[in-house]
Amino acid sequence: MEHIKLFEPITIKGLEISNRTMMPAMGLLYTMDYTMNDRLKAFYLERARGGIGLMTIGPLGVEPAGSVPFMVGLYDDSNVPALRELNDQIHAETKTKTVGQLLHQGRYAHSMFTGQPSIAPSPIASNITRETPREMTREDIKNTIKAYADSAARVKAAHYDAVEILACTGYLINQFLSPLTNKRTDEYGGPFENRTRFGREVIQAVRKAVGDDFVVGIRISGNDFMPASHTNVESSDFAALAEKESVDYINVTGGWHETNIPQLTSNVPSGAYVYLARGVKEKVGIPVIASNRLGDPDVAEKALRSGACDMICWGRPMLADPELPNKIKEKRTWEIIPCIACNQGCFDILFGGQPVRCILNPRCGLEEQLVETPTDSPKKILVAGGGVAGMQFALTAAKRGHDVTLYEKSDRLGGQLILAMAPTGKEEFGRILQSLTDRIAHYGVKVLLNTELTPDMIREQKPDVLAVASGAKPISIPIPGVDKPHVVEAWDLLQDKVANIGKNVVVVGGSATGCETAHTIACMDTPDEAAMAFLTYHQAETPDFLATLSHKSLRKITVIDVLDRMATNVGRTSKWSLMKSLKLSGITLKPQTKLLEIKDDCVVVETPDGQETIPADTVVMAVGAAPVNALFNEFKDQGMEVLLLGDAKATRNLGDAVREGYESALAV
Ligand SMILES: Cc1cc2nc3c(=O)[nH]c(=O)nc-3n(C[C@H](O)[C@H](O)[C@H](O)COP(=O)(O)O)c2cc1C
Ligand code: SF4
Repeated sequence: MEHIKLFEPITIKGLEISNRTMMPAMGLLYTMDYTMNDRLKAFYLERARGGIGLMTIGPLGVEPAGSVPFMVGLYDDSNVPALRELNDQIHAETKTKTVGQLLHQGRYAHSMFTGQPSIAPSPIASNITRETPREMTREDIKNTIKAYADSAARVKAAHYDAVEILACTGYLINQFLSPLTNKRTDEYGGPFENRTRFGREVIQAVRKAVGDDFVVGIRISGNDFMPASHTNVESSDFAALAEKESVDYINVTGGWHETNIPQLTSNVPSGAYVYLARGVKEKVGIPVIASNRLGDPDVAEKALRSGACDMICWGRPMLADPELPNKIKEKRTWEIIPCIACNQGCFDILFGGQPVRCILNPRCGLEEQLVETPTDSPKKILVAGGGVAGMQFALTAAKRGHDVTLYEKSDRLGGQLILAMAPTGKEEFGRILQSLTDRIAHYGVKVLLNTELTPDMIREQKPDVLAVASGAKPISIPIPGVDKPHVVEAWDLLQDKVANIGKNVVVVGGSATGCETAHTIACMDTPDEAAMAFLTYHQAETPDFLATLSHKSLRKITVIDVLDRMATNVGRTSKWSLMKSLKLSGITLKPQTKLLEIKDDCVVVETPDGQETIPADTVVMAVGAAPVNALFNEFKDQGMEVLLLGDAKATRNLGDAVREGYESALAV
């Protein structure tokens, strides 16, 4: 598809933006003390150089009470010079325009950073911090509005091109807007008009602080996706009020941190939330920006062509590939590192209190440290294994000028990634396989499929470097009955090698593989997304019937595990969504349950309540994997450089495989 709309310029109140792409605010945890630093500068500069049209540098804290030390504070002048220096450099070197996002967390702020309770419209406990905020007095409200205005003036003083007020995701302004968190009885609570008052007064104060010519935007939740809170209708009405109050653009994202409708996980279809921007677009005349899961350039282009929005946001896609805009513009789409919405390197890490990374882009957040330099002594390198670690290693080594041949014993590249992209809702992971395949081809890696690299071949070819990335294989447990014909491996099932699956299924092992395999089996007899869309479009059945049809499997599926909890190796931002899917599919989860024996029609298990049997005409084994590393052991002392990478070293996750492949290739 031609990406014409993406690269059309747009003018927002006189501010000329060279294309329709925006990088939204992302809290990165690259600062630990509220200050702007070199790590943040390097991160933003690289993305400006990558061609983004409008780039948010923030969030910026408007008040210590509503901030955390991991975001840059703008409640005094101390960060203004560093921010100004960055803005000036971006403006001097690139066409990128910049916007500073003002954030007050309200009840999402934690007392551990300020020593005081957080403040919010009403004292309603936060599901994120488990703390109850203090109800804001009129004085607090006045002071906080002033803090927004003062911070906005600093944004202008720091040479940004625009300021954005964050009113989404359940933060302070959103807390005032929602009847769920605003129980006030004064003029700031009660009817819609009153609940919007705080937000409107913030806009007025910010406008006054920056003057009429400066661009002021607002970021709203297009739907709070919280029971009894704002839907797209009320959110759009608020957007219309914001326009009346002189806002120049509306940036529309999804729900709150607390919502139980997935917003950002890989099972959210690309472009699923463009309709939220469309709802706003119907009610305002100013530019509207759509957000969430728009990283696929074709999806972004279509969203713009549809007329539902005037610009699109790329958050995580810009973590994965800082050069995304330029690569699309220069028709180098084969070179894109695609965000697969796994959240493993970014959101999961962020919520664990660690600086944000990207599992597919090892340089994210380490822009200054990890630099790919051409080699001055090209080496002959053989790579055993075409999984992610082997491919990433081969790609980076070849890019640096080494002579690389990669051997894969099966008929396709991917290794464990083929399993990772097989479960229902994980199809997005296929984009990274395509991307790695395209890139290793472009950089001249010689790929030999259906060819196992043997010791004789290594002796004959005498490489300078041997990289062993031969992956892992499923382990088997010595349980009576494990050899019966109705016992299958999860890996085989996920690769479509199992044709007959019974009505009663027991999955042994409740890690990511076991849980995702169970869900995949449950989805086999429910209509797929296209069929559901068709039936919904034609109102073929009632909404209730369709919901039941899309959830309920004909099979009775049980997942057992000896551990206390299921899916312990799934990141927190994806785990709840997976658990929700398992529940909706009617899958029974039995933690603390040990497999004792597999019989012809059942399994015998030990539970905290004693022994029991579970009917089973198919038993799926998902009990883990063991490294395959014989070549490493054979050649490690034979005078050549031998590297052990990825699952061949120890079975871990995708991010470890990429990082290890990348960093090892920088070192050869
Ligand atoms: C690590 C991380 C931190 C974020 N912090 C903020 C924030 O401070 N303010 C905000 O408006 N959105 C924040 N977001 C949400 C993003 O701006 C964006 O809306 C979201 O990632 C969905 O878009 P995407 O699918 O393009 O990533 C954050 C996202 C990530 C990944
Ligand atoms: S870690 Fe995953 S979700 Fe986050 S930016 Fe990278 S690919 Fe995207």
